[in-house]
Amino acid sequence: MPKLKIVGGRRLSGEIVVDGAKNSAVALIPASILCDETVEINNVPDISDIDALEEILDYLGVKVERGKHSIVFNDTKIDNKFIPCSMSGKLRASYYFMGAILGKYKHVDMCFPGGCSIGERPINLHLKGFEKLGAVVREDDGRVIIDADELVGAEIFLDFPSVGATINIILAAVKARGKTVIDNAAKEPHVIDVCNFLNSMGACISGIGTGRIEIIGVDHLHATKHNVVPDMIEAGTYVIIASLLGKNLKVSNLDPLHIESLTSKLEEAGVNLEIGDDYISVADVGEYKGIDIKTMVYPGFPTDLQQPMTPFLVSCEGISHIEETIWENRFQNVADTIKMGASIEVSSDNKVATIYGSSKLVGKEVSATDLRGGASMVICGLIAEGETIIDNISYILRGYDDIVGKLNRVGADIKIVD
Ligand code: EPU
Repeated sequence: MPKLKIVGGRRLSGEIVVDGAKNSAVALIPASILCDETVEINNVPDISDIDALEEILDYLGVKVERGKHSIVFNDTKIDNKFIPCSMSGKLRASYYFMGAILGKYKHVDMCFPGGCSIGERPINLHLKGFEKLGAVVREDDGRVIIDADELVGAEIFLDFPSVGATINIILAAVKARGKTVIDNAAKEPHVIDVCNFLNSMGACISGIGTGRIEIIGVDHLHATKHNVVPDMIEAGTYVIIASLLGKNLKVSNLDPLHIESLTSKLEEAGVNLEIGDDYISVADVGEYKGIDIKTMVYPGFPTDLQQPMTPFLVSCEGISHIEETIWENRFQNVADTIKMGASIEVSSDNKVATIYGSSKLVGKEVSATDLRGGASMVICGLIAEGETIIDNISYILRGYDDIVGKLNRVGADIKIVD
């Protein structure tokens, strides 16, 4: 199995260009099925989660033209058959086929989604939303069968502003009869991107980016061409790296507003960031002091940046805390970070990590336990003294486009080895 080998301690200079957002692209691709004409999506990240979606499309008989960073649907008709666990289980975002297929064909038969094991990851809010629109949901040994004679707009309150449930209900509602209102909706940039994409095909969605989204159903969705929004988590990951190792390192093609929750915390710790319209750069690194972060839904501090933030806090003087409020199992990176020399305690309820800094890390053999945990180990390797070997790198490659090339080009010593 391939591994990542990193020789740490190199200062990084130059520019890292952020790609399109994974968590938007993985929704836009299933959403394209709803269109009645051709769809072209550009700025698609070249990651294995997109390969897994393409495999499902291929199985359903949808032939797409895939470029390195683009995907074109010339025909969106599917052979609406059962999607097996071997395909849906490869990624979390396979759940978006539920909303899209239900919205277009009123019948879905597929296995539950997979994804990183970072917590329980139920989809009850998605299914409750479909039921509110008039669908009947049956679950049978890991299989979900959803049927509707007709989908009719409804008032839906989400107990939690779930990204997946918000998008999935929108997908099911864009062609439903009448008006759907989603209250306590998610506001993440990728949710906004999916709404803008659907509106560009003629959908009628308003309240985009607010906690109350209104959708008036339409009969037809026409051709569109769309650029995926920049990946705020990829951007944030590289801004953290720049804060630790940058020497005139610029992270570009990002929207600084999307990661204000991160940059305000880095600045509180003492990082000197230059924040432009579409870039963030670090001229030089300094001495940083410990800070506390608490993960929240957007625009709060994203759970997906909590693990990449850990090596930064390990490098800060004094005590830092990370409180994780979204996922139950998101400190899996801590054990290997400790193995490399960090001093971290995780509370018995697995909700708070206390980090005693600053510690110097030393290269070791470690493992990516999940996507963002893997990114965290990459950062540990970059700042550590000596050689770090990271196993299970398929987790990292499912979400970071060309991470090895991007880091090498700015001076890191990182490569994939067998
Ligand atoms: N939740 C429920 N019921 C549901 C849905 C969610 O209880 O029906 C709970 C979850 O258990 C969790 C919270 O609500 O405690 C948040 O879940 P959400 O639905 O917002 O997450 P998701 O849609 O499954 C997406 C991203 C995750 C990211 C979260 C939070 C995708 C494919 N995944 O997951 O991304 O952590 O939103 O921002 O968009 C990652 O990229 O590494 C990743 C895990």
